[in-house]
Amino acid sequence: MSTPHIKAEKKDIAKTVLMPGDPLRAKYIADTFLDNVTQFNEVRNMFGYTGYYNGRKISVMGSGMGQPSIGIYSYELFKFFDVENIVRIGSCGAYSKDLKLYDTILASEAFSESTYAYVQNKEKRDTLPASRDLNNKLVSIAKDLDIPLNIGIVHSSDVFYRENPDDAIKQAKEKDLLGVEMESYALFHNANVTDKKAACLLTVSDSLVTSESTTPEERQTAFTNMMKIALELAE
Ligand code: HPA
Repeated sequence: MSTPHIKAEKKDIAKTVLMPGDPLRAKYIADTFLDNVTQFNEVRNMFGYTGYYNGRKISVMGSGMGQPSIGIYSYELFKFFDVENIVRIGSCGAYSKDLKLYDTILASEAFSESTYAYVQNKEKRDTLPASRDLNNKLVSIAKDLDIPLNIGIVHSSDVFYRENPDDAIKQAKEKDLLGVEMESYALFHNANVTDKKAACLLTVSDSLVTSESTTPEERQTAFTNMMKIALELAE
């Protein structure tokens, strides 16, 4: 079975797929946390793997950066490969000085200025909820693992480099946004239109208010807490 961007058999992809932005992070997660790993996609180097976490099946695949990219991959997984749950596991910039580097965020909702949802299906809401069911599970797992979660609205921005970054901070205050990333809104919309479930866990990789930041190497390896929570969704 093949779609324009994924060449795989349905049976080779688990019901739950974790999606980091970077396909090499998908490979790192599969190599580090999963047993009996098989690779199911290599089209455009957007690597996807299926394996077992403590004996339970789960897949992990890169989404690429931005709403158009995760929009394509998550739609194909939901619609054509019978995937039921997608959890984005990404990084974000913190809008609040109360958040520290490496804190973990669970998105209750994603706000965006993006036209993705309107163009895709005339969706007029600029703020879309994550799956309540998946979020309840993730909250309970995090509690069991004793990992603190910051739960709130995230900003799915289409722009990384702004000429006026202060505007984003002002908007974040007005709308009570915890942090900024670039994918969740499109993912949540695709889950809505395909009647599937999506959630988003984020690790704070930089701060827009304190200008702390991490190195690419740290970003690659320091997301263990978030991954431990998400991997427990394996079944
Ligand atoms: N902006 C958008 N996406 C991000 C950022 C940011 O500052 N940091 C990590 N992902």
